[in-house]
Amino acid sequence: MSDDTSKKILVINGSPKREKSFTMTATRAFVGGMVKERESTVEYINIPDMNIKPCRGCLSCWGRTEGECVIKDDDMGLLMKKLKEADFVIHSYPLYFFGMPGAFKTFIDRMLGMFETYKGFMPAPDEGLSHRFRDTDKEQHFAVISSCGFSEGEEVFAPLRGQYDLIYGRGNYTAIFCPQIKALVEAGSTHRLAAFTGMAEKAGRMFMQQGFIDEETAAELSKPWFSKKTYRILAERFWQEQKEAGGKNS
Ligand SMILES: Cc1cc2nc3c(=O)[nH]c(=O)nc-3n(C[C@H](O)[C@H](O)[C@H](O)COP(=O)(O)O)c2cc1C
Repeated sequence: MSDDTSKKILVINGSPKREKSFTMTATRAFVGGMVKERESTVEYINIPDMNIKPCRGCLSCWGRTEGECVIKDDDMGLLMKKLKEADFVIHSYPLYFFGMPGAFKTFIDRMLGMFETYKGFMPAPDEGLSHRFRDTDKEQHFAVISSCGFSEGEEVFAPLRGQYDLIYGRGNYTAIFCPQIKALVEAGSTHRLAAFTGMAEKAGRMFMQQGFIDEETAAELSKPWFSKKTYRILAERFWQEQKEAGGKNS
């Protein structure tokens, strides 16, 4: 049961693997921590199950029909309502080609009308929200949780970090970027995985308490769990096994 003080958490899962997403291992622990900290309702949306048509590029939502998208026959209207009502919005998805997966980008593009019309200038990313939300004085908090296969988390997530700095404004969102996650979940020790999910849960509690997580916690969650040498061995073994399995695993 929710009451007036309970918070609304909206988790938007952009992995085509839905519940089997490795990223969601981190996200579920993070949300678990949030819920432990304060009574909340949690809604999970799987982007691959939504009917979201691509933006037509007409810019009506910034002009003629300000704030309103002209596309009415898909799920985006409902999603925008949920986005406006949530106290906490969490994006969760794998890194694809150093950015967000295509279906998730389609969803982000369709959010254009939720942001104020660009009128010829933009504040610098560290001066606050670059793209301000339209018609809202609601206090909302945002987090992005993403995972990837490479070890070099800082380098591979740099484009995504830059994109979020421009969309939400530097310091206005929480980022947890997890390298080597498949190996951590499937090939690492249970002890290591428990340490990771425990840390994610602690971060979730912190996010609920203060609306952001401190840099140290974000850095801890974003560090690679295996040395480069061990990871190379794991990667070689993994691809060898895939080859041997042939088409059986696909
Ligand atoms: C199309 C595609 C592109 C990918 N691009 C990258 C990449 O640029 N860098 C990287 O480190 N991993 C990349 N990966 C690996 C995924 O990010 C990684 O497997 C991720 O942890 C999967 O998360 P999920 O289980 O939540 O879907 C890619 C995977 C696919 C299928």
